[in-house]
Amino acid sequence: MTEDQVRILRDELHYHEHKYYVENQPEISDVEFDMLMKVLEKLEKENPSLITPNSPTQRVGGQMVLGERIRHHGLMLSLENTYTSEELYDFDRRIRKTLPDQEIKYVVELKVDGLGVALNYEDGYLSYGLTRGDGDFGEDVTANVRTIKSIPLKLKQLNYMSVPSILEVRGEVFIPKSQLGKVNELRINAGESPFANTRNAAAGSLRLLDSNIVTQRPLDIFIYRLSYGVDLETHDQGLKMLVDLGFKVNEMANVYSSMEEVIQYYYEWRDQYKNLDYDTDGIVVKVNNINHQELLGVRTKSPRWAICCKFPASQATTRINQIEIQVGRTGVLTPVATLDPVEIAGARIKNATLHNEQEITRKDIRVGDWIVLERSGDVIPKVVSVLAEKRSGWEKVFRFPNTCPSCGEQVQRSEQETAIRCINVECPDQRKRRIEHFVSRNALNIEGLGKQTVKQLIEVGLVSNIADLYHLQKDDLLVLEGFGDQSAENLISAIASSKQKPASRVLFGLGILHVGQSAADLLIDYFVSIGAISVAEVGQIGTIHGIGSRTAESVVDFFAQPDNRELFDQLKLAGLRMRAEAPVDLGQVEGSFLGKTFVLTGTLIGMTRSMASERIKLMGGKVSSNVSKNTDFLVGGENAGNKKNQAIALGIQILTEDTFLEMIDSV
Ligand code: IVH
Repeated sequence: MTEDQVRILRDELHYHEHKYYVENQPEISDVEFDMLMKVLEKLEKENPSLITPNSPTQRVGGQMVLGERIRHHGLMLSLENTYTSEELYDFDRRIRKTLPDQEIKYVVELKVDGLGVALNYEDGYLSYGLTRGDGDFGEDVTANVRTIKSIPLKLKQLNYMSVPSILEVRGEVFIPKSQLGKVNELRINAGESPFANTRNAAAGSLRLLDSNIVTQRPLDIFIYRLSYGVDLETHDQGLKMLVDLGFKVNEMANVYSSMEEVIQYYYEWRDQYKNLDYDTDGIVVKVNNINHQELLGVRTKSPRWAICCKFPASQATTRINQIEIQVGRTGVLTPVATLDPVEIAGARIKNATLHNEQEITRKDIRVGDWIVLERSGDVIPKVVSVLAEKRSGWEKVFRFPNTCPSCGEQVQRSEQETAIRCINVECPDQRKRRIEHFVSRNALNIEGLGKQTVKQLIEVGLVSNIADLYHLQKDDLLVLEGFGDQSAENLISAIASSKQKPASRVLFGLGILHVGQSAADLLIDYFVSIGAISVAEVGQIGTIHGIGSRTAESVVDFFAQPDNRELFDQLKLAGLRMRAEAPVDLGQVEGSFLGKTFVLTGTLIGMTRSMASERIKLMGGKVSSNVSKNTDFLVGGENAGNKKNQAIALGIQILTEDTFLEMIDSV
C-alpha cells in the first residue's frame, strides 16, 4: 500500500538524517539518501493527500509569519555573567549556604554563542519553534527552524518510557565558524553586506522571511535543556534523554562534584575554545539536581542555580562617536576614539587608542563608523577592523589637527617618525602627563596622587612641575576638593617617602623620550648617578650594551635643556636619590679607595670623567682637579698633557684608563 510505503520511507529518511546531521555517522551515501528522498517526493506528488508537515520533504518552503508570538513553557531566562574563578567560588558558597548538608553536583557545559530557541513537539512531532523574544513570549520561527537538519521533525521512541505528548526543549542555533566565509561570499555576491560574526549570521538567518534562503544557510543546533514534558530528577538525566529522543546535544558537558573540578574545566576550555568549529563565549555551570534548582529559585531575569563564566579576550562591535586628540608627556599627539560603551571580558570599554594618523588612514577609520574591538588581558583595547558595510554615508573622515589641542601651538610632523608632536615644553597637557608619569606605579609610585588630583593641583596653581610636589604642605591640600585631614596627611607622607625610591626610578620618572624602565636601569648601572648621566655625551651613552643611539641622543637633548637641568637640581635639593644605592659589599668597596685622592686628566674612552669621579667617590676616594703632593693617583686618558708631566715630576702613580678600570672591577 502506498500509505505504508510512504510511512516506511519517511522513517527511513528521519533515521538517516539523524545519523548524518546529529550523530555525524552516515550509514548511506548522499546519492542513496537523495534517491530515497526523490522516491518519497514522487509518491507524495502523486498522492497529495498523504503529505504531512512532518515529512522530510517538507523542511523547506514553509511560510514565516513574523510577529506571531507564542508563550513559552516557563520563562526563557538568561544567565548571570561572571569572569573569574573567585566568582565561581562565590556562586558555590551561595548554593551551599542555601542548601546546607546537601550533596551538590554541577553540570558544566560550553556556552555556545548563537541564538537561543525553544522547540515544541506534539505527539512526537515538531509543532513550532520560537526565539527567546521577551523571555515570556517568543517569536515564531517555525518555518525556519524546520530547515535545520539536525532538528528532528519526528522524535525517536524511548525504550524506557513513552514520549510525552507535549514536549519543549531549548537550545542554541549557530553557524559553524568554518561556514561563515561561504555564507558571507553568497551575501556579497548578492550585493548584501557580510555578517560580522557567526552569531549575527545565525540570528540574521533565522529571521529571514524566505525559508528557501534559510536552507542555504548552514544552520545547526545544540540542545541544552529538556524544559517541559518530563519530570526529571537531574539535569544530566535530561541531557541523556535528549540524546535518546534524537536531539543534538553538545558532547563537552560533564558532571562534577566540586567547584575545583568545574574551574579546571573552565581553564581547559579557556585555552581550547578557539579550536572548536563553533563560537563559544564561556561555560555554563548548572546545579544538577532539579529539586535543588527549584529550592534555589530564580531572580527576575536569571536563575540562582546556574551561572555563566565567560572566557577572557574577546571582541565586540561598537561605534565611534568621536575622535579626540590626547597630548602625551613627550608631546606626541595620539588620536583616541570615544565609543558607545561596550562590555568586553568584564570591562566596560569607552575609549580605544587609534595610535597615530597613519593607522587611521590605513584602516580607513571614520567618525561614526562601526568597528570590531578587541581586548586581551590588560592590553588597551584595539580596533581590529572597520565594518565598512554598516556605513550610512554620514561618517566623517577624520582630519588630524595642525595645532596642539592643549596649547594651540603648531604641531611638528617629522619625516622619520609616524608621531606628530607638540614641541612646546610649556604645553599644559604635557605638564600634566609628565607629573602623572612621575607619580605612576613603575616610577615614584606615589599613592593617592591620581589623575584627578594632579589636575586639581595644576589648576589651582600649586604645582607646575614634578619638583613642586616636594614643596606641598598639608594645608595646601586641604583646600582641594575631596581632601580631608587624613587624606592630606597620607599624601604628604607618600610624597615624602618617595624620596627613598631608587635613582633608576627617578630617572625613569623624568619621562625622557625612549628611556623606559630597563634603559633607566642600564644607565644607572653604568653611570651610577643621574648627575653623571646628565653630563654624558652621546658617544659614551651609546656604548652601553642595550642602549641605542636614539635613546642616547634623547638623554643628551633632555639634559641640554636649561629647564630640565633646573628640574634635576631641584629634585636633588628636595632630597631624592640621585645615585645608585651602594653595592652590597659596601665596606670592602668603600675601604678600597678610602682616603685616596685621584686626579683625572685627558680623554677617557670607556666613561666620562664625571662618571669616573662618581665611581671613585662611591669607593671612598676623593677627586681633585689639581695635581699636588697629596695626589695618590693620576688617571691619564688619551692626550693627557700638563698634569701628567706634573705627576711624573712628583713621583705620583699614573694609571692608564685600563688599569684604573681593573682596579674598580677588582673590588
Ligand atoms: S542555559 C536558565 N546552557 O545563553 C538557563 N544557555 O544568557 C539559561 N546558551 O539564552 C540557559 N549555551 O541562548 C544554557 N549550554 C547552555 C547554553 C546557553 C548557550 C545561551 C542561551 C541563553 C543564553 C543565556
